[in-house]
Amino acid sequence: MGTRFLPATKAQPKETLPLVDKPLIQYGVEEALDSGVENIIVVTGRGKAAIEDHFDRNAELEHELEAKGKADELAMVRRISDLARLAYVRQKEPLGLGHAVGVTRELVGDEPFAVVLADDVIRAETPCIKQLLNIYEFFGATVLAVMEVPPENISAYGVVDAKPVEFQGATDRLFQVNNLVEKPKAEDAPSNLAIIGRYVLAPEIFTALDNTKPGRGGEIQLTDAIRNLMSTAPVYAYRFKGQRFDAGDKLGFLKATVEFALEREDLGGPFREYLKTLAL
Ligand code: G1P
Repeated sequence: MGTRFLPATKAQPKETLPLVDKPLIQYGVEEALDSGVENIIVVTGRGKAAIEDHFDRNAELEHELEAKGKADELAMVRRISDLARLAYVRQKEPLGLGHAVGVTRELVGDEPFAVVLADDVIRAETPCIKQLLNIYEFFGATVLAVMEVPPENISAYGVVDAKPVEFQGATDRLFQVNNLVEKPKAEDAPSNLAIIGRYVLAPEIFTALDNTKPGRGGEIQLTDAIRNLMSTAPVYAYRFKGQRFDAGDKLGFLKATVEFALEREDLGGPFREYLKTLAL
């Protein structure tokens, strides 16, 4: 419901907040496409129609841009609607992340699939989802992205209890998960490895979700369903390579905005000059 970003999210879905000039969800969709994913399912809900409109054609706007000879802008808006094969499924009530994944069951079918939480924006040389897909392909098992988080912040995350596994010559990236806890108190956290909003899940997760009772905050938690899944299949955690921004949080969003703006060819130079003039 985007409560961490009120009042902006009172009437606007948080997924459409722009980082520089692109809505958060488009970063997530592009990461999936860049990872080789071809079919994307967006879980929407009440008040989220702007997401569907964003990825749809806008004939009026296209006509206007064409008439004014704005070829670059026209190509950009057309590109967005041609980006991907998108399907939408509505979560009728906000009953939790696990529940949101559950409503995609019919569309996903009996195949592994990736989950992207659009408010986690990740900058990486190899897209984070692609990194996870590589592991899925190797082990044929569910894999979650994790990162190290300091104790004072750990209670905002799902946290894994896991032991290192050698992968591609390294022992500090991949872990086999023994247990996972959704948003533990700092003193109860089993490690400093926090789950980030990227998962590649085996389809058995849907049966595991059926057996998942409401947990933390009264919500059906994906973390709890993954724990259930672990009784029948191994689960891995991968400390991905890249930088993650919590764009669902005001400070995280500001950091991401600055970093992404600095990287832009058209804006980076003048923005850097401007920042240098600030008496910080
Ligand atoms: C969700 C998950 C949590 C994970 C987090 C990452 O929580 O439930 O396990 O650590 O995303 O962003 P949320 O932030 O949606 O409350």
